[in-house]
Amino acid sequence: MSVLYVPSTNLVGRGCLQELAPFIEELGFKKALVVTDEFLNQSGIVSKVTAQLAKVDVDFIIYDQVKPNPTTKNVHDGVDIFKQEQCDFIVSVGGGSPQDAAKGIGLVVTNGGDVRSFEGVNQTEKKAVPTVAVNTTAGTSAEYTINYVITDEEREVKMVMVDKNSLVAVSVNDPELMVDKPKELTAATGMDALTHAIEAIVTPGAYKITDATALAAVETIFEYLPRAVANGHDLEAREQMAYVMFLAGLAFNNAGLGYVHAMAHQLGGVYDLPHGVCNAMLLPIVERENAKRDPKKFPAIAKAIGLDIAGKSEAECADAVIDAITQLSKQVGIPTKLSELGVDKVDLDKLAENSMKDACAPGNPFTPTKEEVINMFKEIL
Ligand SMILES: [Fe+2]
Repeated sequence: MSVLYVPSTNLVGRGCLQELAPFIEELGFKKALVVTDEFLNQSGIVSKVTAQLAKVDVDFIIYDQVKPNPTTKNVHDGVDIFKQEQCDFIVSVGGGSPQDAAKGIGLVVTNGGDVRSFEGVNQTEKKAVPTVAVNTTAGTSAEYTINYVITDEEREVKMVMVDKNSLVAVSVNDPELMVDKPKELTAATGMDALTHAIEAIVTPGAYKITDATALAAVETIFEYLPRAVANGHDLEAREQMAYVMFLAGLAFNNAGLGYVHAMAHQLGGVYDLPHGVCNAMLLPIVERENAKRDPKKFPAIAKAIGLDIAGKSEAECADAVIDAITQLSKQVGIPTKLSELGVDKVDLDKLAENSMKDACAPGNPFTPTKEEVINMFKEIL
């Protein structure tokens, strides 16, 4: 049996935020907790969203203290405000961070307890508070998936939660909210989407629907990500990347991920590094190891990228895919060495151990030993 999780209502495309008000009205709630970060609040993006609430006379209160890697404190502060202000639904505005924090908040409100106890797979009993998730970056798909990641500051660990109760009520992907994103963020989130697509293709959890959407995402990323990075106001490229995020999100939300994410989460947890950058750096390394053991999915990926696969073996296709990923990373300005980002080899043992415990690890096509994980980190140190 295959299960497909997707929010019941999803708005995608240029200007779709301007059409949000009737969907909010339909939900019938009175007061929203708007979960976001300071930058988005000050930049005016949040007010574009709250204008939609005002149109249908829905009250709101803003919590804008979500950190780039959202913390357990962010979740519990948000819960306190939700209760004090007698909110009855959540509107999340942002990339992965506010979306993840909002999922944690929504689940603690309905289930009680501490978000730390939700680590792992489907650890809650009740559905989260209904949430309208407005996405502002094309990459993480957090507004759309059943996964979220919260950093436990005390343990320096990124807790990965996979919880069907965290699925939002309405997702909104309007590329017009993404045009002012800086190049680095566009590159990192776009490479995150590529990682979602490729990990969702090679995982044993893949099936016909996820393969179809993930391969379509790969094709579009190679065509449009360099354009979106080169010129953020290229609305066609931004819109294509919004669809990519949706396609790749649908794939990994239902097929699963693998060791690229398992390892990237640790770098994010210990060094607070951007998720997409860590994924982009690790993607060719992990896929080379995956392809050595089973290259059968790589001809399809090569074809989606637009590479000439005539007469090539599966292993040769895998090499060509890995080269193409490395080239794309270079083209969009992803760093090549972890040591440049402050990663220290003394931490590799802990990073490897925690990678092996990560919720994404079981999705990988093979299970590496601790030494193999350390060696993969070393390749880009
Ligand atoms: Fe990701």
